[in-house]
Amino acid sequence: MEQISTDPDFMRHLTAFGPFDTRPSGRVSSWAPTPGETLGGHAARQVLRLCEAAGLSGSDSAEYARTLLTALGPVAERPLDLPPPYDSFLSDDHSPVEYSLAFTPDARPTLRVLLEPGCGAESLADNGRVGLRAVRAMARRWGFDTQRLDELEDLFFPPDPEGPLALWCALELLPGGVPKVKVYLNPAASGEERSVATVREALGRLGHGRAFASLPPSERPLFLALDLGDWEEPRAKVYLVHRDLRAPEAAGLSRTAGGPAQAEIARFFRTAAGHDVDGLGSPDGRDAPLDRRPGLSCHAFTETGTALPSGFTLHVPVRDYARHDGEALDRAVTLLRRHGMDPAPLVQALRAVTTRRPEDGVGLIAYLALVHQEGRPARVTVYISSEAYEVRPPAPAPRARAEAVH
Ligand code: TRP
Repeated sequence: MEQISTDPDFMRHLTAFGPFDTRPSGRVSSWAPTPGETLGGHAARQVLRLCEAAGLSGSDSAEYARTLLTALGPVAERPLDLPPPYDSFLSDDHSPVEYSLAFTPDARPTLRVLLEPGCGAESLADNGRVGLRAVRAMARRWGFDTQRLDELEDLFFPPDPEGPLALWCALELLPGGVPKVKVYLNPAASGEERSVATVREALGRLGHGRAFASLPPSERPLFLALDLGDWEEPRAKVYLVHRDLRAPEAAGLSRTAGGPAQAEIARFFRTAAGHDVDGLGSPDGRDAPLDRRPGLSCHAFTETGTALPSGFTLHVPVRDYARHDGEALDRAVTLLRRHGMDPAPLVQALRAVTTRRPEDGVGLIAYLALVHQEGRPARVTVYISSEAYEVRPPAPAPRARAEAVH
């Protein structure tokens, strides 16, 4: 049996509420949230089990569970039977943690954790300050610099910021125990009406002066994300909101030079949104819009010599277009197989985060995304909710179907 940790603080989170089996093939023997369970205990155990699903070693898994607890700070101690620390926009039930698996053909998926270090703060301004402090502590610990973030501090951390977030960070949990770090910033910090100006200014400071002009039309920018640390080609990424998006428009959103095939994007969209039967198009021949929660695009800028983005991602919020997670999982499996990826780690990952059946709720799979980065094969990313606080009940019947009866 592998010894995962002797750190008393860490073990207290994990062992306070029942036996915990740390063998690589082991199962946590009691999973249902127990009275007195903490947010940190819940999330740390999910990470340990997800790491196993992603093929990470026991010592890497333990290291990453500890890293998550450190990043969450004092809210890790918060009992789960209290309400969430605040109405975080990070997830539907306001858990300050969300997972994702990034699949590539012929390799194990990479596990990532998105989290809000400042979720326990009293104000959005404090939330941002705590977030910055957490990222800088990571930078010291893993020896990377935060210069790209520091240069933007005045834009994204004004004294009296507006929502819907201050700072999130994502960790790519690679073998070796040292994650890659990304930060997500809020273009609406100085007011939603200033979002475009804020992103344009930020991109300019990062050396992407003409980048914003190359982006497709959208309702507004939602996030600016930065790769920090040891990346081959650190990216600045702009997430845009596209209300009432339909497959043909989604297919035309990419502004990358080589670009993914439009037919491939449209097909991904229809399958993820449940608009097709067997990939052949919508049952009634019309393309329905994403009218409950918008689709998102994300363009990545790496080359400062050119204004064109080198990466494009389409995010479909599958949870608002599926009755239950069984449906969402079927779509994810279809998409993974179509793109040459083994869906088994996804099934294992869902079991790692919850004991409920996929049919018994909706929202465990939050988004399905198609990722194109120049020079690499297409990737599929599946976002998995922590459901620390709530499971959304399954929907009775999809609206499209109810309408089709008339
Ligand atoms: N919860 C928000 C949303 O659903 C933000 C968010 C969390 C998000 N994880 C994401 C957006 C992954 C895109 C992809 O929009």
